[in-house]
Amino acid sequence: MLIARRANRLETIAKSLKKQYGVAIGWIATDLGNPIELDDVVRTIASDKSVTLLVNNAGTSTLGKVAESKPEDLTAMINVNIVALTRLTIAVLSGFKERDRGTIVNIGSVLGLHSLPISSIYSGAKGYVLNFTRGLQDEVAGTGVRVQLVLPAAIATDIWAISGVPLSQLDPKTVMTAEDAVNAILAGFDSGESITLPSVEDVELFANYDKARMQVLAASQTSAPASRYSPKR
Ligand SMILES: NC(=O)c1ccc[n+]([C@@H]2O[C@H](COP(=O)([O-])OP(=O)(O)OC[C@H]3O[C@@H](n4cnc5c(N)ncnc54)[C@H](OP(=O)(O)O)[C@@H]3O)[C@@H](O)[C@H]2O)c1
Repeated sequence: MLIARRANRLETIAKSLKKQYGVAIGWIATDLGNPIELDDVVRTIASDKSVTLLVNNAGTSTLGKVAESKPEDLTAMINVNIVALTRLTIAVLSGFKERDRGTIVNIGSVLGLHSLPISSIYSGAKGYVLNFTRGLQDEVAGTGVRVQLVLPAAIATDIWAISGVPLSQLDPKTVMTAEDAVNAILAGFDSGESITLPSVEDVELFANYDKARMQVLAASQTSAPASRYSPKR
């Protein structure tokens, strides 16, 4: 089941996948950023027991200064990147838990680890995807439900033109093709990864980042204010 807004593209892709792989494939043309349309999709998916895999890939980005952001752009970013991803996850989760089987793939971003002056809202949304997905991974640990978090860097897709920063402004050496990204994500999934960073060669970097994160969390677990905040005598 393919879901996006543009029916013509969905129909073309569905036809080509059916022809190439002989699979039964459907599509729903809907705006996941529209709460009423999202409700309909959630109902459809929640009631379909044949769903075994959800890929939360739909996302949108408008890059720019917070003070200059348009309400409709920030609403779309939050509604699609956060609300729809969460509602669709919940739509499949109880069935997956009941059947002790199912996979959720959430597409975040390395910008969920970092914010640029023009990416505050997008980075904030992808930071949500990261924290939401990691908590969910802990929630389903030890069950047959699997959740993969994907943190890509720049990939050559339409999102750049939509964001207001054309791909031509990026250093081509920093941009991966969508084919390479998807192959890396699938390889990461097959190797049992819970977090996949398609373009990061040294996996120790993320392990060290994660260790530091846990150290800060552990150090925060005290009732005493840190000594630097003691009233000066
Ligand atoms: N490209 C990158 O550099 C990059 C890097 C890190 C993470 N990501 C993430 O990767 C995911 C895929 O993005 P992409 O790069 O492939 O961008 P893209 O080429 O713009 O594709 C976005 C997809 O989401 C769908 N979509 C967007 N808004 C929607 C809405 N309101 N309702 C339903 N579907 C909607 C689009 O279809 P319609 O327009 O037809 O609705 C399209 O299929 C996103 O979550 C993005 O944040 C991308």
